[in-house]
Amino acid sequence: MFATTPLRVVAVSAGLSQPSSTRLLADRLAAAARERLAAEQDRSVEVRVIEIRDLAVDIANHLVSGFPSAGLREAIDAVTEADGLIAVTPVFTASYSGLFKSFFDLIDNTALTGKPVVIAATGGTARHSLVLEHALRPLFAYLRAVTVPTSVYAASEDWGSSGDEYTDGLPSRIRRAGGELASAVLGRTVSGASRAPGPDDGEDAVVPFEQQLADLRLD
Ligand SMILES: Cc1cc2nc3c(=O)[nH]c(=O)nc-3n(C[C@H](O)[C@H](O)[C@H](O)COP(=O)(O)O)c2cc1C
Repeated sequence: MFATTPLRVVAVSAGLSQPSSTRLLADRLAAAARERLAAEQDRSVEVRVIEIRDLAVDIANHLVSGFPSAGLREAIDAVTEADGLIAVTPVFTASYSGLFKSFFDLIDNTALTGKPVVIAATGGTARHSLVLEHALRPLFAYLRAVTVPTSVYAASEDWGSSGDEYTDGLPSRIRRAGGELASAVLGRTVSGASRAPGPDDGEDAVVPFEQQLADLRLD
């Protein structure tokens, strides 16, 4: 019998511009995760993107007063209850933005334990792509989330001239990260969902860890 509750993927976008390249990257990652989840199991998939620019004042008020607004409480609950999380920040001064960090400062430091997370960032220069490794990955490691191996960085030059299309490379990184998030979500929430990659999985396939261990044959 199939579970009837939908799988929930929540993307947090800390972009400030309108339109926002950070939001665009969050949308693309959420779509990739949704596509992979829908292809691999029968539960419906709910995707939600939270733009924390809309909660900026509530976040500041919560930091100083200790009390969240109803809207902020609801956003925090959506993040902590998600089956999979996508966290995307613009690079500000060589790190995650202050708003992004402040939002995650308000989440209980045990609430993301074990949660599959894709980390991603946008920036003006590709030279700051290591922000994913020196800032975002340690943040989610501290929160004991399970960050998938592929992180995604999009510099200005990775987007096409229209701003809505992207150049070679970024789409496959997005697909790979979305696929890894889907695998992590299914491994965690659907019993028996772990499986060896099939012939149609291509190079984006992720081999479940227990399968890798079984394949080691240490005798
Ligand atoms: C205050 C500020 C600081 C920035 N610092 C950096 C930086 O250190 N490195 C970088 O690559 N881009 C930097 N940028 C550029 C933004 O990261 C980039 O434009 C981002 O994609 C904007 O996202 P958005 O379109 O979602 O608002 C900075 C932008 C601002 C406004």
